[in-house]
Amino acid sequence: MRAEGAYLYDVEGVARLDGISSWWCNLHGHCHPYLVEKISAQLATLDHIQFGDLTHEGAITLAQRVLAHFPASFTKVFYSDNGSTAVEVALKMAVQYASLQGTPKTKFIAFRNGYHGDTFGAMSVSDSDGSFSAPFRPLLFETFYIDPPLRGSGEESLGQLERILDVHGKDIAGFIFEPIVQGVAGMHMQDPARLDQLLALCKSYGVLCIADEVMTGFGRTGKFFACDYLQEKPDLVCLSKGLTGGLLPLSMTVCTQQIYEGFLSENPAHSFLHGHTYMGNPIACAAAHASLDLLESPECLASIERISRSHQTFIEALPRDPSPLVHPRSQGTILAMEIKTPASTGYFNTASHALRRYFFDRKILLRPLGNCLYVMPPYCTTQQDLEPLYQGILDLQKEAPWKNS
Ligand SMILES: Cc1ncc(COP(=O)(O)O)c(C=O)c1O
Repeated sequence: MRAEGAYLYDVEGVARLDGISSWWCNLHGHCHPYLVEKISAQLATLDHIQFGDLTHEGAITLAQRVLAHFPASFTKVFYSDNGSTAVEVALKMAVQYASLQGTPKTKFIAFRNGYHGDTFGAMSVSDSDGSFSAPFRPLLFETFYIDPPLRGSGEESLGQLERILDVHGKDIAGFIFEPIVQGVAGMHMQDPARLDQLLALCKSYGVLCIADEVMTGFGRTGKFFACDYLQEKPDLVCLSKGLTGGLLPLSMTVCTQQIYEGFLSENPAHSFLHGHTYMGNPIACAAAHASLDLLESPECLASIERISRSHQTFIEALPRDPSPLVHPRSQGTILAMEIKTPASTGYFNTASHALRRYFFDRKILLRPLGNCLYVMPPYCTTQQDLEPLYQGILDLQKEAPWKNS
């Protein structure tokens, strides 16, 4: 098997469009020559060092480059190596920060059906109905859930948050959320103004806001970060996936100067005692630098714009009811809709298998979330690449592959 640009080639050499950017991480296409060149050069210079006492230029300058895309209140990054650990770090920082302030807090608030990863802390703030983490529920810490402020509805979120904070406010260390688009839940898209209200309310209770931008970061939602749609800013931000252009594992938990100062102390026990062997890996940092070189170029920003507009045009041209394709929506480069099937909605809806097969046979790789069909292509995907994908979606109306599932 091999991969090039927006395509994956199987053992027989058949090309398939990577319609979901290999689990939402590939930004510029596979085996991009520039990324390959930069990674190879780094590999021959400095492969890996322990990041406990040492640092290296690539990690320092990468932190500076990423921070340049944040408001000035953000000044520090903590490296780890995947999305779940970036979340784990943020949760631990929030809890330890509260403890260092002399006001211990150990509970969290999160969006219903959110997904933040598969480690224990991440599981504790994810998956409100327990369908993924059921066997581990007794081991997870307490989290209160509110509905995300979805576009066109979402009035109830603020009242739900208010009621929780009224009763439990002093025990809540943080509010964690996927900003603007909730991924695994089914590409649910939010109203930024309502999300702002939630952040403002949390701040009035001294609750830290943690934006999980593991999926939404680096241009996916049309802006550099999804939080760029917000007036209120979070205190901690989790980044991974697109950070390296989707080539190598690396993550960052970005925090404000205020949080950093909460840990400053002569007492070593006050440090954030957390570390992973491969955090700040030089090769992964080189990949991230190369990816940012491309992402910050006018060409790449124009591609994001082009794909975003193309999705919108496609949605406008979709036939309205009666159609099995319901609630078409887009946010930046993400296009999503539900397939109306007799089975219940949600991740375990078996329509996903039939849909996967249907697109696979059409040389397109998609991985619907239950009956939520979505597209999230790498930014190098051209209009010509997108056309067969759009046609495949249109043809679903007559072919209805889920009927046999
Ligand atoms: C929003 C969000 N947070 C965290 C994660 C976990 O990332 P990883 O799979 O790298 O641990 C994911 C993975 O899809 C995600 O979508």
